[in-house]
Amino acid sequence: MNLVPDEGQRAALEAAREAAHTLLMPNAAELDAGAGFPTETLKALGRAGLMGVNVDPAWGGRGAGAVAYALAVRELAAACAGTTVGMMVTNMVAEAIEAYGDDAQKQRHLPRITGGAYAAAAFSLSEPGSGSDAASLRTVAVRDGDDYVLDGTKAWVTSGGHAGVYLVMAATDPAARARGISAFLIEPGTPGFEAAKPEHKMGQHASATTQLIFDQCRVPASARLGPEGIGFKIAMRALDGGRVGVSAQACGVATGALATATAHLASLDAEAQGPDHAAHLAALADAATALDAAWLMCLRAAWLKDERRPFTREAAMSKLFCTETASRVCEAALRILGPDAYGANAVSQALRDVRVTRIYEGTSEVQRIVIAREVLRAASAAA
Ligand code: CAA
Repeated sequence: MNLVPDEGQRAALEAAREAAHTLLMPNAAELDAGAGFPTETLKALGRAGLMGVNVDPAWGGRGAGAVAYALAVRELAAACAGTTVGMMVTNMVAEAIEAYGDDAQKQRHLPRITGGAYAAAAFSLSEPGSGSDAASLRTVAVRDGDDYVLDGTKAWVTSGGHAGVYLVMAATDPAARARGISAFLIEPGTPGFEAAKPEHKMGQHASATTQLIFDQCRVPASARLGPEGIGFKIAMRALDGGRVGVSAQACGVATGALATATAHLASLDAEAQGPDHAAHLAALADAATALDAAWLMCLRAAWLKDERRPFTREAAMSKLFCTETASRVCEAALRILGPDAYGANAVSQALRDVRVTRIYEGTSEVQRIVIAREVLRAASAAA
């Protein structure tokens, strides 16, 4: 594993850094205050080559890999976590379409995603009654001649109401649980399909999170992604990669918060601060060390993905460690900043924005289940 970025990784990082400074940072506070959805910013991220970082150039992507993607996400998330999650889910869906789509599906959606014609692509697995136990979803897709008819309600969909395509998991054989789930690419405007109003959330206000309602929604069989019954695997594989992205996002949010705290500490007169100063220096050292360890875990998981090696365990470990660490780092940054930090500012926003990284794309508890299973599996294989 090489820690020095190669040319493609550096290009993705530089494109993200430029976009963070010119597109995300200037709007982050307003979006946090409820200014709406950053449609134009997300489309500009597409034009900057950041909506298919790990997608083949033949489809308009960068083909730069998962490490490049993690570098880009961390940079963007330090500027605006809410805009970044829209970018992350779009990349995740683009990779799933590239991996499982037929030529017509790729032709239709990938250039529109990677080129910024769509503001976003959305991923829809969770439901009001099934989050962590994803295989217990209730939305059904019933075959009817050359069509499927979808009925049910999905929940917590990033970019709901704004996406150009939705990757939706529904049961085609409910009795078979995980093996009876299929994936569908649904476009906005399809009769019987609508996004509900955005949820009121604690953080990441730049992202719209909605339910999706399917009421006798008829789609052609050609909307199915991959064969019948492999939707759960498509979702799990997508989430393995997505969890690397959330790791990088959490590291980015914490990096931004810690940079603000560091600048504050550097500006203080150490003697005038008395004993508090030593405590704050120690907090800074612990936070910087933990954040570095977290980032290395993220890079390892991304590197394994680039090497086409199994990375489910490492992605889950990375997500668990990065998101829990990032939350503690944001807390430390707030403490270091002192009383001034409790107002509406970038660090208090970071603290609200970082919380959901421990929830979406699998809670910390789900990551522990995945890690424990993988550790046990490896132990029994070695026995
Ligand atoms: N890659 C490929 N296949 C996988 C896989 C992986 N990582 N994990 C499981 N599978 C396969 C298994 O091999 C198995 O296949 P077979 O039947 O052929 O053997 C099948 O999937 C079922 O696997 P499990 O028995 O392990 O399934 P389970 O029901 O026990 O899964 C769980 C448990 C791991 C906790 C899973 O339900 C899970 O990950 N839950 C969390 C879901 C999640 O992260 N949701 C977030 C949604 S997205 C979001 O947050 C919103 C957003 O837009 C950001």
